[in-house]
Amino acid sequence: MQRLLIDTDPGVDDALALLMAYAHADTTIEALTISAGNVGLAHTVRNALSLVELVGAATPVFAGCAGPLVRPAEDAAFVHGRDGFGDAGLAAPRRRPEPEPAAAAMVRLARAHPGELTFVMLGPLSNLALALRLDPELPRLVRRLVVMGGAVHGHGNVSRVVSEFNFHFDPEAAACVVDAWPQLELVDWEATLRHGLAFSELAGWLAGGQQVARFYDAISIKTRDWMRLRRNLDRWHAADALAMAVVLDPGAVEQWETRPLRIELDGALTRGMSVVDWSRRTDWREQARILVRYRVERFAELVKMALTAH
Ligand code: BDR
Ligand code: CA
Repeated sequence: MQRLLIDTDPGVDDALALLMAYAHADTTIEALTISAGNVGLAHTVRNALSLVELVGAATPVFAGCAGPLVRPAEDAAFVHGRDGFGDAGLAAPRRRPEPEPAAAAMVRLARAHPGELTFVMLGPLSNLALALRLDPELPRLVRRLVVMGGAVHGHGNVSRVVSEFNFHFDPEAAACVVDAWPQLELVDWEATLRHGLAFSELAGWLAGGQQVARFYDAISIKTRDWMRLRRNLDRWHAADALAMAVVLDPGAVEQWETRPLRIELDGALTRGMSVVDWSRRTDWREQARILVRYRVERFAELVKMALTAH
């Protein structure tokens, strides 16, 4: 049984990742820790609570950072909707977040279950960076760290074109985590682009499903249209869902590359960039296992399972 702590800023692709984890038989979700990112914290917390309610789980939800650690950043409401869930007009959740701050909960849970929890990071790394500052022993206590972030060849997805959203939103937090963690698994934006799912296939699962499918259809329709019509993409790219596939079934990874990784903080054009030493010129520690190829049929299967579960 895998035990996950998922840090997230839901978010349309975050929601899919969470549904995949909830639908997976050998997985339990110990906690959701929430940050701002795709949209503001009030929305991301509310979205997490709505999703927990939808799947009938009792997962505690901890609110965390309301913004990046150092400099302000723009959100991604133009992709995810002003409320982060496609402005679908969902009813307000009845559940409330826990009183404990996210970073404190991360430290407490990691200490309570040493070597047992996988931390899955689907948003900016602000909460984890704070937790690390509180407890530098954290990397030793966490079983596995999987991060969605970066654009390892500089093909990013924000206006600072070499950077990816999660690292660009809070570069100081990303640097803090990357510099401290001895081994992490990285699912970057470019891997996301290589592992798209056909829009028609997705539409079929959404049409054939029940409550979860109806929910996901409603929150994702605008993002799907934006990708298809505005970005001219021929496939659905769901970064956080791919990261979750790696968490749930690492056996379907076909290729990793392990390299040193650093985060650029100062570059006028490159702030937030993930700098990878591909040709091993430095003596930096080789701590990032970078996803190159995942079996796309398995990814599709995990998504289908999530959307057609209830
Ligand atoms: C990442 O940025 C967010 O918009 C998504 O939810 C994902 O975590 C992709 O760059
Ligand atoms: Ca996210």
